[in-house]
Amino acid sequence: MLKSPKFLWLLIIALLVALGFMVKMFILTGNTIPSKDDRTAILVTEDERTMILGEMRKFLETIQGVTEAIAKGDLKTVEELATEMGQGGDADMSPSLIGKLPIEFKSLGFATHDLFTELGKTATGGDANAVLTGLGDLMLNCTSCHAGHKFVIEGTKEAGGN
Ligand code: HEC
Repeated sequence: MLKSPKFLWLLIIALLVALGFMVKMFILTGNTIPSKDDRTAILVTEDERTMILGEMRKFLETIQGVTEAIAKGDLKTVEELATEMGQGGDADMSPSLIGKLPIEFKSLGFATHDLFTELGKTATGGDANAVLTGLGDLMLNCTSCHAGHKFVIEGTKEAGGN
């Protein structure tokens, strides 16, 4: 028999509050602060920032290759580049880094990879205009994420540290 149900209830409530806090921190908000330019600043280590910016440049390189291939009517190359980009990335994301990213950042990031996979499928249809439309739609993910987020190195003055 439980000797002190009241104590147990308090413990359960305290655990739920802690759980709620952790869900908020690690899943919803991440490690963020407001930034002066009206974006959300995500606080990461220098290595994490370097890694993600490297992924970003791969995004841009793929878009460059895709655009050039569409102009040449080479949809086979579009298919290859887009499919490869759809599969790539995210793999070297540590759980710690994933915890720092706010939910909308994660969902936009994953959705962008999926849209590359979709673009690869569209390219197999052979309609260059449909591919261009898909590319334009996909790039809305790039622009909307950039409009709302930036990276700031943890512990720097900008991050609110000393
Ligand atoms: C989920 C959010 C998100 C998505 C989606 C996203 N980016 Fe980024 N990107 C960022 C952030 C945040 C930065 C850093 C901005 C800063 O710190 O000022 C960045 C930076 C960049 C940079 C600069 C890299 C460097 O070396 O400085 C390039 C290029 C870039 N993104 C291209 C793209 C392209 C192209 C796409 C779409 C295919 C894309 N990004 C999609 C969030 C995103």
